[in-house]
Amino acid sequence: MRPVDNVLRELDELRRRDPDVHGGRLFGLVYPSGRDDIEELIRAVYERYLFSNALNPLRFAAQAGIERDVITMTGDLVHRRATEHHGGAVTSGGTESILMSILVNRERARAKGVARPQILAPNSAHPAYAKAAHYFDMDYVSIPLDDSYRADVAQARRLITEKTCVVVASAYSYPHGILDPVQELAALAKEHGAGCHVDACIGGFVLPFMEMLGRDVPAWDFRVDGVTEISVDVHKYGYVPKGVSVILHRDYDWLWNQTFFYDQWGSGLYATPAIAGARAAAPIVAAWAVMQHLGLDGYKEIVGELLVTVARVREGLGAIGGIDIVGEPIGPLLALKSDTVDLYAVADVMDEKGWHLNRNTDPYGLHLMLSPAHRDVVDDLLHDFSYAVSHHGQSKGRPARYA
Ligand SMILES: Cc1ncc(COP(=O)(O)O)c(C=O)c1O
Repeated sequence: MRPVDNVLRELDELRRRDPDVHGGRLFGLVYPSGRDDIEELIRAVYERYLFSNALNPLRFAAQAGIERDVITMTGDLVHRRATEHHGGAVTSGGTESILMSILVNRERARAKGVARPQILAPNSAHPAYAKAAHYFDMDYVSIPLDDSYRADVAQARRLITEKTCVVVASAYSYPHGILDPVQELAALAKEHGAGCHVDACIGGFVLPFMEMLGRDVPAWDFRVDGVTEISVDVHKYGYVPKGVSVILHRDYDWLWNQTFFYDQWGSGLYATPAIAGARAAAPIVAAWAVMQHLGLDGYKEIVGELLVTVARVREGLGAIGGIDIVGEPIGPLLALKSDTVDLYAVADVMDEKGWHLNRNTDPYGLHLMLSPAHRDVVDDLLHDFSYAVSHHGQSKGRPARYA
């Protein structure tokens, strides 16, 4: 047996080798709010729910009610019409939400006699859709992007077939932070009897508040005719620890096609709404608690401040010269490219200075996913970036790796 302090000492040493999740030097992967009240609340929730299990809603009825509230509150954000049915499920993350949506869309197509349905997704869609095709024996067809890095609707129209079960649109995309033409893609999907999944895994807790703040946000949620599913990650810009996303269906009935029922064993009915069996309850309850604490006004305030941070970063990058923002990103995610500067070489210098910028392959460049906590490091970031632009050598050829 090892004494507790000895085990913890080793863990602390190991943790020091990894990036500090609060340091503001990471972009994506973590979404620090920079707010002590939020983090204290989450710690208090975790203490209370550390050992709970979200598997059996009958045994933990109150906890299951909390989970339903998370679905309803998230559904309200994206204008899912109010019904007594929640029409959605909490999953462990964006990938699981996407998998569940694609499974449902596959079942819809199979019900119509399509044996091997097809996913039609923009080239910038998250790899979870390709993963879904791989897991669920489906075909994956990629929609090229237009000059603005949005899904090219004319190409989508060319590629859609009677086998297409779902058209994907990102609100907004991971590689470039760009909102796809959701209305056109949803209309195209509807015209061909397909579903339309809007991936708001990153944008789901940003775009609604931008709209409330009076920003120009083209319609992208359930108010758009033809949108059938929306995935929203609470564990990104909802500021809760990993383990919470919500998949929402316009039609409540389709939720049952992602629910697995089984009673041919010795312990009665087993039913789960997504892939996991036993699930940590703490992240789900933390999502509820943070949403209760912040309310719409709290999130709105955070997003307002975040947009100020984004504007400062954009202005600072503009002042450096030679760095372009890819397309017209709608929110706090900026992809950078350059005709004159080798941005991978810049990233090498930034790596040495302790920043963890992500590299993009298309276009060749960098990826900056800004979180509220970056507010406190904007000046340092721009200072080091400017230095890196003027002092970099040859790129070390470090590849772009997301996972
Ligand atoms: C647009 C988008 N969709 C889906 C996902 C997948 O989410 P997760 O990593 O939580 O599975 C991500 C992750 O970054 C994303 O950016």
